[in-house]
Amino acid sequence: MATFAPSLREATLLLGHVLGLDEARLLAHGEKPVTGGEAARFRALLKRRLGGEPVAYLLGEREFYGRPFRVDSRVLIPRPESEHLIEALLERKSTLPRRPRLLDIGTGSGCLAITLALEIPGSRVVATDLSPAALALAAANARLLGVGDRVRFVATDLEAALAERPPFDIVLSNPPYVAVEDHHRLSPEITDFEPSQALFAQHGGTAILLRLAALAGRRLVPGGWLACEIGDGQIEALASGFSRLAPELEWIEVRKDYAGKPRTVILKRRPI
Ligand SMILES: C[S@@+](CC[C@H](N)C(=O)[O-])C[C@H]1O[C@@H](n2cnc3c(N)ncnc32)[C@H](O)[C@@H]1O
Repeated sequence: MATFAPSLREATLLLGHVLGLDEARLLAHGEKPVTGGEAARFRALLKRRLGGEPVAYLLGEREFYGRPFRVDSRVLIPRPESEHLIEALLERKSTLPRRPRLLDIGTGSGCLAITLALEIPGSRVVATDLSPAALALAAANARLLGVGDRVRFVATDLEAALAERPPFDIVLSNPPYVAVEDHHRLSPEITDFEPSQALFAQHGGTAILLRLAALAGRRLVPGGWLACEIGDGQIEALASGFSRLAPELEWIEVRKDYAGKPRTVILKRRPI
């Protein structure tokens, strides 16, 4: 079994978590005495980290777009590259109706839905997931971050979500997109701890993205946006699959991630 020796920074974050100090205060108050109970809690966290458990789960929190989101094994840990999806939509904010209706498919921790609700005042967001356990945590995040009732959480598959009326102005999703056969390529830190329902999809990882485009092409408001995160090396398969299954959608932008790989795609439903 692989062991995951914590880096100095990870150990600092875990100790700060036990002592209730942020990183800067911990480093500035290195002389603070540690009780026996605190030392035992710190050792227990180090042991879990050595077993590969992600630091975000040990801390119970991950920052996304500048806000803290509660995370645990019910949800995928929000990734920095998913912030590109937020940026791409916010750049188009001025073109939206005054009270836009947004649908987030596969909301997980709620990081995308809640961020957009807070960044687009007046927006109304439906956030869906197949996992009721993930939705419970997402709803807790919405309460903690003060979005009020502007995000509605619904346990449903994407087909039923997209059937809602009136149609949505924006459909967004960071769906599972890792090919099932690539399971062994991911670190055990991911596959042993994050929900597999959040990671894997059939057809080289593109199955859910293709279903989503086919439905969004028919059910978005004309002129509405579909914004998705995609996996490595999927852009060609998606380009041909989308044009076959969703001819109503026009490609607007392919945005690269910090590693220079196509990661976020923005499409628009053509006016009827
Ligand atoms: C990659 S995670 C994304 C979580 C979050 N939106 C984020 O960006 O961090 C995908 C989420 O989609 C959910 N999911 C998987 N299949 C789904 C489906 N057919 N319909 C709705 N949600 C689905 C999973 O439970 C998981 O929470």
